[in-house]
Amino acid sequence: MTSSEIRRKYLEFFKARGHEIIPSAPLVLAEDPTTLFTSSGMQPLIPYLLGEPHPSGSKRLVDSQPSLRLGDVEEVGDNRHTTFFEMLGNWSLGDYFKVEQLPWFLEFLTKELGLDKARLWVSVFEGDKSTGVPRDEESLAVWQKLGISKERIFFYDVKKNWWSRSGEPSLMPTGEIGGPDSEVFYEFTEVHHDPKFGQECHPNCDCGRFLEIGNSVFIQYQKQADGSLKELPQKNVDFGGGLERLSAAISNDPDIFLIDLFWPLIKSLEKLSGKSYGQDPETTRAMRIIADHLRAAIMIARDSILPSNKAQGYVLRRLLRRAFLFTKKLNFETGGDYFPGFISILADSYDDIFPDLKEKKVQIADAFQEEADRFDKVLKSGIKEIDKTSRIDAQTAFYLLESFGLPFEITEEIARERGQVIKKEDFQKEIEKHQVLSRQGAENLFRGGLADQSYEVTKLHTATHLLHEALRRVLGSHVRQEGSNITAERLRFDFRQPTKLTAEELKKTADLVNEQIAKQLEVTETVQDLSQALASGARAFFREKYPEKVKVYSIGDFSREICGGPHVASTKELGRFRIIKEEAVAQGIRRIKAILENGG
Ligand code: SER
Repeated sequence: MTSSEIRRKYLEFFKARGHEIIPSAPLVLAEDPTTLFTSSGMQPLIPYLLGEPHPSGSKRLVDSQPSLRLGDVEEVGDNRHTTFFEMLGNWSLGDYFKVEQLPWFLEFLTKELGLDKARLWVSVFEGDKSTGVPRDEESLAVWQKLGISKERIFFYDVKKNWWSRSGEPSLMPTGEIGGPDSEVFYEFTEVHHDPKFGQECHPNCDCGRFLEIGNSVFIQYQKQADGSLKELPQKNVDFGGGLERLSAAISNDPDIFLIDLFWPLIKSLEKLSGKSYGQDPETTRAMRIIADHLRAAIMIARDSILPSNKAQGYVLRRLLRRAFLFTKKLNFETGGDYFPGFISILADSYDDIFPDLKEKKVQIADAFQEEADRFDKVLKSGIKEIDKTSRIDAQTAFYLLESFGLPFEITEEIARERGQVIKKEDFQKEIEKHQVLSRQGAENLFRGGLADQSYEVTKLHTATHLLHEALRRVLGSHVRQEGSNITAERLRFDFRQPTKLTAEELKKTADLVNEQIAKQLEVTETVQDLSQALASGARAFFREKYPEKVKVYSIGDFSREICGGPHVASTKELGRFRIIKEEAVAQGIRRIKAILENGG
């Protein structure tokens, strides 16, 4: 069964059970300030899981969502991790619940995909004292009734069987939704590429015997400002299953790179390099990394992103350069027909859902070739620089990254060839020392996925709204947001203003923000028609990009802005606001950097 067939069968199966097939969201989210990429099917559906009616009018939705997860990019190279993947998803917006969802998924796996029920294991939430969420006896009963024997049902805690975008309850920021989940695992009896078989093996063991193929999340809680969880007015189901993993389960081989969405790419790498996949671990790893990273890069570029040093463009650059590095390890060059050939193979595999890939081939291939050439130059000057030093250490690696853009992996590789070792931890320390991580928001997101959704960032995001309004009140209505960038340490706000701010104006602005914090203003969120929001005076930017329905965040009566969130529940959480820098960034545009101290 091809991956396209699995996708089609899935959509049809749930359509036949009253679900509306909805179009997937783009991979690159221009409107969402909290993440760079869509990383799950539920992400674009959060307002509807919170109770807003879905525009389709249906309470049952199904789709296939292109997704990107960068959290475990370093693990790519084994037989199962990928950055880009397609997530098959179905949702109940306060409609059906566990008793319908679990049997449907099992029926889909066994009847539609023909998977052997005897190879399926499941996990269920064991309960959590600190939040008071009970053990999921209901799911246990459903699985048993469906004929899954007790020995194949495992209970796990919040670390494994709780899902929210940020992870377990203690990591969820105020306002985030989540809940306990129940996962299904496929057991490969013949472990093809990873013969380790742990004695204490269980579904969440990483030995390669099991692969998670689907996750039903029962989204029914929302995190409160006091740290507790509150039941949502509606109980939702949020199911997600990786298409590539389902495909691997059907072929009964745990190596994802053997499925039809990857194998032609691997084949082309075999041809170009004259080496065989599986001939030795290094070659296999290199081919998997190239295939994964280039596929992800093509999907990002499909959304009109070019390699750059900013946000999504930076991630694209990192993925490409890492792929180029491993291409060099396989000893072939990236010129000629390499990129067009690779994109054509992918376009064929995705012809039914991404027909535009064919049209974008030349444009994407040109951009990749340009980046490959740029990378070669970086590499040459970096190597020249390395030749000047006798010892390559973490400091050198950092200098080469900062001054020449030479990725750590490459410096590390060159050092290794010269019999020297650079420890990753030392390099990491070097980065932290220079605060590159906090200056470079994209780097944060690249490493830690949702790192940017931390409570610190959320607080600074609310503070940014206060600052914006305060500036307008102190300086005048010509003030307009031109840019905003938030890290866990500070906010940075660029705005239109012809002259440098005086000490008095800066003080007035900071005082005004601190007054609002002292007033303990409530932050509220409403969803409105764009026209209604604009008419009510909510601040808006980039007006033309807004959808018809928008979220408006109000902070007491002080500020109203159209914004994607998230925000804290009350300004009392913010502590003390302090401006640490004011400077010019361009003609007529000033920049303020500010921090929060002693926050809640
Ligand atoms: N949101 C869950 C996940 O991403 C299930 O859809 O795993």
